[in-house]
Amino acid sequence: MADQFKNFIGGEWVAPSTGNYFENRNPARQSDLIGLFPRSGREDVDRAVAAAKKGFEEWRLTPAPARGDILRKVGDLLTERKDEIAKAATREMGKTIQETRGDVQEGIDTAYYAGVEGRRLFGKTVPSELRNKWAMSVRRPIGVCGLITPFNFPLAIPTWKMFPALVCGNSVIIKPAEDTPHTVALLVEILEEAGIPAGVVNLVHGLGEEVGSAIVEHPEIPVISFTGSTDVGSIIGAQCGRMHKRLSLEMGGKNAQIVMPDADLDLAIDGVLWGAFGTTGQRCTATSRLLLHTDIHDEFVERLIERARKLKLGYGLEKDVDVGPLIHEASRTKVEEYFEIGKQEATLVLGGERATGEGLDDGFFVQPTIFVDVKPGSRLATEEIFGPVLSVIRFSELDEAIRINNEVKYGLSSSLYTRDSVSSFRAFQDLDNGITYVNAPTIGAEAHLPFGGVKQTGNGHREGGWEVYEFYSETKVCYLDYSGKLQRAQIDNYDASPY
Ligand code: UN1
Repeated sequence: MADQFKNFIGGEWVAPSTGNYFENRNPARQSDLIGLFPRSGREDVDRAVAAAKKGFEEWRLTPAPARGDILRKVGDLLTERKDEIAKAATREMGKTIQETRGDVQEGIDTAYYAGVEGRRLFGKTVPSELRNKWAMSVRRPIGVCGLITPFNFPLAIPTWKMFPALVCGNSVIIKPAEDTPHTVALLVEILEEAGIPAGVVNLVHGLGEEVGSAIVEHPEIPVISFTGSTDVGSIIGAQCGRMHKRLSLEMGGKNAQIVMPDADLDLAIDGVLWGAFGTTGQRCTATSRLLLHTDIHDEFVERLIERARKLKLGYGLEKDVDVGPLIHEASRTKVEEYFEIGKQEATLVLGGERATGEGLDDGFFVQPTIFVDVKPGSRLATEEIFGPVLSVIRFSELDEAIRINNEVKYGLSSSLYTRDSVSSFRAFQDLDNGITYVNAPTIGAEAHLPFGGVKQTGNGHREGGWEVYEFYSETKVCYLDYSGKLQRAQIDNYDASPY
């Protein structure tokens, strides 16, 4: 009998009101059942909101440095249990153990950053325009935050949202992707152990269309943060707009790596292999377009195929595995559709098929795939695939590469390989993305810098770094007039009498 997991509401592990559960299986080995997780309903969300409102009343008055101390403790506990959590994450979502260890480390970094931030939630003190009057701004918590997180960074992304929300004094309700409920359950266990008060952190498992939408539509959840597809983000955006909610969206990408003829080609090949095939291409920051200068195009492609061919597919807990499976059947079907689209639109030079053979038949494996002669504007060149599929596009001038980079609807990350400083600064200035790397792949953002994209990747907010603290708090401006008389701003100090 498989383990049956629970929700965490008001400081207690509780069964879902529906009595229903869903299966969580290993995507590399479908026969491996990890557990049964609550398929919760609206009633569970209502309970979580009631608990979170109570939790908020106490938590908002807890001094921010004390809130930060709990997060620091969380960082210590995550460090102690890094290996165990990484293994659980690989088992439920498939990326290699090296990568899930990195994922947990990103959570640890986020925890320690948040811990310190509890002592730095600065406001501003500003001179008033009037005599004997004080003016300043402070940061206030908002209330209950609804957090909806994806499978691809099952530990890091929940921490990106939860930890700053908590340090700012909010309470949270998290709904993890139904593919990765176990990793988030372990994280919540750690928060509990670190001493987070009852009701401040609540976990409700379930499906997006059931629990996710109940959170988004709940009138007493004023803040929503979502990472996932642009299509779902649009639906959430429309709903939050109608309800005047504060919303942070982190969505799709179609990220390009540009290689100039003066680049270190070995370095650029290492970069694209990691950017395109790491996490089986299932990152919003994945390199899905490779823009090669015509002078080095043929040589680069030849060497890249040689290296990509050697990537080892398999279960991420096994030694020497480079690439794991896709997350589920629907995702594999989608990637296989793009194999067919690609075969129509461009020239297939590697992969393009389901991966079969020993250790692969019980999982959602596909071959790392490369298409060349991809035309800018084609479906392969513009649509997010979320799989190990790389589209190679040829260009002859940096300006042309910048134009191709910018002509997609997404704008998360981009990368330029060059030894020329002028081209590097052109890239920083003109590539229309939230993140640009020079001589590094499109993936690998660090936890203490703001993360996010422009255009349809996001809605103007950032996660991580110092900026996310603005999202999870309200600015309040406080004036204190100690002049003892009525002072009218904009009037008494400028204009005694117009008559
Ligand atoms: C994501 O793909 O959703 O920069 C997040 C990176 C990681 C985070 C990716 N640190 O690739």
